[in-house]
Amino acid sequence: MKVVVILPTYNEKGNIDRLIPILEKDIFPQIKKHDMNILVVDDNSPDGTANEVKKLMVKWGNIKLNTGEKQGLGAAYIRGMTFAIEKMGADILFEVDADGQHDHKKIPEFLKRIDDGYDMVVGTRYSEGGSIPQNWPIHRKAFSIIANILIRTIFGRFTIHDWTGGFRALKKEVFLKEKNKLTEFRGYTFQVSFLHKALQDGFKIAEVPFHFTDRTLGDSKIAPTEYIINVLRYVFVARAIELAYSPFLKYAITGFVGYIINAVTLEVLFRRGLHPAIAGAIGAELSIIWNFAMNNFWSFSQYKITKPIKVLFKFPQFNLVALGSLVIISAVLAIGTHFFGPSSRQIFLVIAIALFVIPYSYTMYNIFIWKRWHISFLSKLQKTVG
Ligand code: GDD
Ligand code: MN
Repeated sequence: MKVVVILPTYNEKGNIDRLIPILEKDIFPQIKKHDMNILVVDDNSPDGTANEVKKLMVKWGNIKLNTGEKQGLGAAYIRGMTFAIEKMGADILFEVDADGQHDHKKIPEFLKRIDDGYDMVVGTRYSEGGSIPQNWPIHRKAFSIIANILIRTIFGRFTIHDWTGGFRALKKEVFLKEKNKLTEFRGYTFQVSFLHKALQDGFKIAEVPFHFTDRTLGDSKIAPTEYIINVLRYVFVARAIELAYSPFLKYAITGFVGYIINAVTLEVLFRRGLHPAIAGAIGAELSIIWNFAMNNFWSFSQYKITKPIKVLFKFPQFNLVALGSLVIISAVLAIGTHFFGPSSRQIFLVIAIALFVIPYSYTMYNIFIWKRWHISFLSKLQKTVG
């Protein structure tokens, strides 16, 4: 397959002079399976980086140069990737810094993962076998590590350890799918947003650890404060949108209406002379039916159960989960009112629902009822049991 290693440059004259011969002489000859090429994406660097590249292009026929206006690293990558696919016929794209900070000896390993069937491979500095420069001052190290832990936590996606790094390989399909969603991320935020969108769309992503070495020539182009603000803004906004579209909000609305159905039924039937326990139980079952139907056809509609025979099996299971909620509520009410008296009952009802019933039932729905979450040890267990 045709591989294009994209090297974005802004004032990297001395570095490009060192890096390209290493790639051509030491790295590319190790790769027999693929057709290796280089694309330098230069933004009219004032130091004349482009002229250096032109000299190298005379020596090696597999190098191309794409120049344009400086609009940031993300913009340069989008332009470069488009050029690599449309003009060079690339199947696989690499993102590599031109300043030599990325361990190019790892390039064959990235390709191996692509050959194994992964869509995207990200270099990680924060897994075993990876590192950030020893000589970085402590605040810089701490910042880099904390930022990545924060991003993983906010997204709730822990399989990727390095979200901000710029050493990656990807199939062209990943870029073509995400391209239009990335145009607003022109700076270094490109890295986080691209990876996040690729994960959301279900692309298979692998990690390769590497040692990130310090720059020996020239200066970093990153503006730290602006970078931090932009990354945080992206992470928070993207996560909020993700949650709004996730089943959780719909599940919560459904549950709230279900509660009202329960309360109104209790009131109406009680006033018609039914015993409160019976009136409450009828209300509860109506609410369970409502919850099952709405969650099935709305909240978890992507995973909905439609075959009547399956519904027949699922509905008792759903009732069993509801029974669990009932046990939780009565236990919390019993303990709460024991210590704080019967007048605290409504407060403890709210506590029971918010702290225990919601996490409990949402988890049960996701794992057992609609099977949206796949817990690896549980699926193993299910396999061995039956
Ligand atoms: N064409 C172009 N246009 N290239 C650029 C631009 C731009 O606006 N800005 C930066 N570059 C090039 C640099 O010349 C270099 O080859 C590469 O992009 C990385 O830029 P650096 O300025 O060296 O970035 P860094 O080392 O501070 O940042 C590293 O860490 C970031 C955060 O983890 C890089 O690995 C980034 O990719 C990463 O996002
Ligand atoms: Mn750098």
